[in-house]
Formats: sequence, structure tokens, C-alpha cells
Amino acid sequence: MTRRMKLSVLSLAVSLLMSAWLVDLGAFAHEGHRHAPASARKLKNPLTPAEENIEAGRALFNRHCASCHGEDGKAKTDIAAAMKVKPTDLTGHTVHGITDGEIYWVITNGIRNSGMPAFNAKTKPNERWQMALYVNHLMGEHSHASGD
Ligand code: HEC
Repeated sequence: MTRRMKLSVLSLAVSLLMSAWLVDLGAFAHEGHRHAPASARKLKNPLTPAEENIEAGRALFNRHCASCHGEDGKAKTDIAAAMKVKPTDLTGHTVHGITDGEIYWVITNGIRNSGMPAFNAKTKPNERWQMALYVNHLMGEHSHASGD
């Protein structure tokens, strides 16, 4: 190999590494601090925000989530205070605009290395969609949808 060829092989390798790194950064940068992959955004909630679904979601949320996130979603609980990675304030700007699909993904898969558990074994898909509805309800996302 000539010196010139070696150089171009090297620069090709470097640019491949750089682009892989940039793609990674892009994946982290999407939607602020959110954790679900972009594909989760489009998952459609098969349930409607009807009273009965919201109420079922509230009961499930209080059972499974309130110990960390608080019944009001503001994550001001003793457990939250003791955790290294703080549970997200579900009424705050971090999750503003989060879709039911993203919430469903996070409940199903959990968030690695944070203490946010996966609930796929403990709950049925239907129950996770009800909780997703309720979390969005907590954030006030459905207040404008009540009329239609
Ligand atoms: C053991 C404590 C704990 C429990 C129980 C828990 N979470 Fe979390 N949750 C966390 C922590 C910690 C984070 C923040 C993770 C991070 O920022 O890396 C989090 C983050 C989240 C987020 C934000 C996701 C994002 O993309 O930013 C949502 C939504 C959420 N939790 C919903 C729920 C729901 C719904 C339940 C009940 C089914 C639940 N959590 C139960 C600890 C908990």
C-alpha cells in the first residue's frame, strides 16, 4: 500500500466513526430528554379518553406509579427524594407534548439505569394504554378534547 492509500483508508475510517457518532447524538437529541424511540411516538392508543378509561387509568397509576411520581404526578415523594435519577415531574415541561404511544413505550420497557421499572410483566397492554391516557390527562392534554 502506498502512503497515499493508507491515508485515504484512515480518513474513510475516521469519517465513518464520526458519522456513527453523529447519528447517536441525533438519537439522543430528539424531543428533549425523552426516552422512547421515535417510532413509539406514532403508536396509536386503541382506547378513547372516555371517563371509564381515565378512571381505570387513575386507579392503576395510583397503584403502580404514584410511589415515585406522586398521585398528582409531580414526583414529590419520599421514594423520589431518595432516588439517584429523579422520577420525572409528569406535569412539567420535560414531558410536554409526549404522546400516549411514548408513555406506553416507557411503561412497557422501563428506562434503563434510572430505576423506572418495566411494567410489561405486571400489567396488560390495555391497562398500560389506560395509564397512558391518565398521564396525558394529568398533564391537561385532554381538557380541550372533552367536547368532541
Ligand atoms: C421506582 C420508581 C418509579 C416507578 C414506580 C415509576 N417510575 Fe416513571 N420514572 C422513574 C424515573 C426515575 C424516571 C426518570 C428516568 C430518567 O429521566 O432517566 C421516570 C420517568 C418516567 C416518564 C418520563 C419518560 C421520558 O421519556 O422522559 C414517564 C412518562 C413515566 N416515568 C411514567 C411512569 C408510569 C406511568 C409509571 C407507572 C406505570 C411509572 N412511571 C412508575 C421512576 C419510576
